[in-house]
Amino acid sequence: MRILITGGTGLIGRNLCKLLHEKGHQITVFSRHPESVSVKCGAAVKAFASLDEWQPDTVFDVVINLAGESIADKAWTAKRRQALLDSRVGLTEKLIDKIAGAHVKPAVLLSGSAIGYYGNRHDEVLDESSTAGQGFAADLCIAWEQAALQAQGVRVCLLRTGLVLSRDGGILAKMLLPLGMGVRFGSGMQWMSWIHIDDYTQLILRLIADEQISGPVNMTAPNPVSNKDFTRALVDVRHGLVSLSAPSALLNLMLGERAALLLEGQRVLPGKVLAAGYSFRYPDLSSALGNLLSA
Ligand SMILES: NC(=O)c1ccc[n+]([C@@H]2O[C@H](COP(=O)([O-])OP(=O)(O)OC[C@H]3O[C@@H](n4cnc5c(N)ncnc54)[C@H](OP(=O)(O)O)[C@@H]3O)[C@@H](O)[C@H]2O)c1
Repeated sequence: MRILITGGTGLIGRNLCKLLHEKGHQITVFSRHPESVSVKCGAAVKAFASLDEWQPDTVFDVVINLAGESIADKAWTAKRRQALLDSRVGLTEKLIDKIAGAHVKPAVLLSGSAIGYYGNRHDEVLDESSTAGQGFAADLCIAWEQAALQAQGVRVCLLRTGLVLSRDGGILAKMLLPLGMGVRFGSGMQWMSWIHIDDYTQLILRLIADEQISGPVNMTAPNPVSNKDFTRALVDVRHGLVSLSAPSALLNLMLGERAALLLEGQRVLPGKVLAAGYSFRYPDLSSALGNLLSA
């Protein structure tokens, strides 16, 4: 299949490109740094420097939309909020225009979102039928999803992505400080809905193939844990790791509103993919961390 990926150079995209290439697909990645695409995504991957390179007679069977400025890296000033919005909603709108103008439309659009859609929900068990939450991250996801749903004549899956566990960065790198320390955030009671990167990329294959699945899809493992239990599991896998606690007040002082990303949580279940019979390679945290962190 011919597959276009935005954000294909990122943590998820790089792993996805590798798997899709192994499966024999032809991949094009849209990147602001097209010269980096062959290095990050593989020599066979074609680069688009602009979405305007998608001509009406260009055919993509699948579009995967992962691009977005990092939500965690910089303070949420008004300017940064706009950049977070533009890089997701603005880019998705451009993609929808391209789909509308294509002579042959893709069969499916898999478009990014996050479990931040649900806001801060304490112990409530959430599936795809749960309502949206409140706050900046939730508003961003709502707008991002609404933009993708404007695609006409195309199956749309909204990837409500949990905390992706990978060797190459993301939340694990943030929790495993240098000097062998693992960090618990605030009370540690907040839920962490995580997913191993291999399950994430396998799920993408499933969503491409399974025409019965559409709409929101929770991209999380079936066993979310509290932040306290997550840190405990890290210590178990990494013998000798020292567990530290970062108090809420300190995180709020250091990160401002962004502290919500660490101090708030969602207990999310992947209802749709479980109903579709997907069998997780890493359903529980100890197996995922064992795979990723054991020497
Ligand atoms: N990883 C997670 O745990 C997680 C959890 C929930 C949701 N998500 C969402 O899933 C998506 C992929 O995640 P990821 O971890 O792979 O992200 P990532 O490593 O930060 O990569 C994001 C990609 O987006 C592109 N990008 C960034 N700013 C852009 C802009 N202004 N305009 C166009 N493209 C831009 C970048 O590509 P170029 O630099 O090549 O242009 C980058 O490769 C993101 O949108 C993220 O918000 C991720």
